[in-house]
Amino acid sequence: MKKIISVVGARPNFMKVAPVHNALKQYPDIRHLICHTGQHYDEKMSKVFFEDLELPQPEFYLGVGSGTHAEQTARVMVEFEKVIDREHPDLVIVVGDVNSTIACSLVAAKALVPIAHVEAGLRSFDRTMPEEINRIATDAIVDLLWTPSPDGDEHLLAEGIAPEKIERVGNIMIDSFELMRPRIDAANMAMRLGREPHRYGVVTLHRPSNVDAKGPLTRIVDELIAVSSELPLVFPVHPRTRSRLAEFGLQSHLESASQIQLVEPMAYIEFMSLVVDCALAITDSGGIQEETSYLGIPCFTLRDNTERPITITEGTNRLVNAENLRGLLRSALDSRPQRPVIALWDGKTAARVASNLKRRAESGAN
Ligand code: UD1
Repeated sequence: MKKIISVVGARPNFMKVAPVHNALKQYPDIRHLICHTGQHYDEKMSKVFFEDLELPQPEFYLGVGSGTHAEQTARVMVEFEKVIDREHPDLVIVVGDVNSTIACSLVAAKALVPIAHVEAGLRSFDRTMPEEINRIATDAIVDLLWTPSPDGDEHLLAEGIAPEKIERVGNIMIDSFELMRPRIDAANMAMRLGREPHRYGVVTLHRPSNVDAKGPLTRIVDELIAVSSELPLVFPVHPRTRSRLAEFGLQSHLESASQIQLVEPMAYIEFMSLVVDCALAITDSGGIQEETSYLGIPCFTLRDNTERPITITEGTNRLVNAENLRGLLRSALDSRPQRPVIALWDGKTAARVASNLKRRAESGAN
């Protein structure tokens, strides 16, 4: 019996581990345990995702909470080391690029526990983003790198990672979407919020570069208000953004826009239902660039770069800023793009992860 511990910490991690957990259940000789670091802890940022994604209760909850990067990363390391020392897993699986990803990778690597990384190889080449540091450092020390797209393989090879450690498995986020699709299709979130399908935009914002300073956040808020006179917007507000809006005195300005509906962060099924029926998304999230590309929905990403360039070259994503958003958005309202087909974004990534693990175990690799 092999013991595998998968690490989740922040909201986007849950959708990446759920399909893996589901796929590994088919193998009676694998015991798959989930460790939740507690990086995200609010019910709306964590618990609702476990329920929606039908994830079991985590075996280990580290309860690290918020803090500076050093505090949060260090607390995860101290607590995860105890889990590793007690459990001696055969493999640790980390996902994505959050602080919990690098923290647990560092601990497992030094304890000589093999590590696999889901969503390896993504690069924005922007080291001002904490996630970029997490990606580079994680990929440098893990043993098995599961990539979502060819650019991932290329970046890893260019960084000197041995080709035999890299396996292109596809995009795991699409697995979660397909697994939950019947419930997403039945959720009717647009209707529940009083919105007409295809006649509203979805907004999400949480990147420090957009929300942590008053100037950029003010420009974005002004632009969203201007956009909303042409297209109503639904905006589930991330806790980081909510506190910055309050701090910079922008909350009431945003609330005064009658066509912007501010709502609490949503659970996975509700949120994806809202996305499925929207006319377009305005976001700085990584995952939403992928989900909208998969669905053929125009996505306007408020960033200077993306670690997911395939969503631009093959998908429906465009990088924008507060200055050019409205002009670019108008053209999207006139014509809807074809739904793209991106190789290995097919809902079968977790099955490829599981069979890759099996093959490696049989060949004695880990
Ligand atoms: C983190 C990830 C980011 C990911 C995002 C998704 C890192 C470096 N960043 O950013 O990559 O895209 O999650 O949401 O790992 N807070 C709450 N409740 C919570 C969690 C956070 O109120 O459950 C508040 C706290 O005030 C906290 C702030 O939000 O200080 C930011 O949380 P944090 O986990 O530090 O970073 P995120 O911006 O969520």
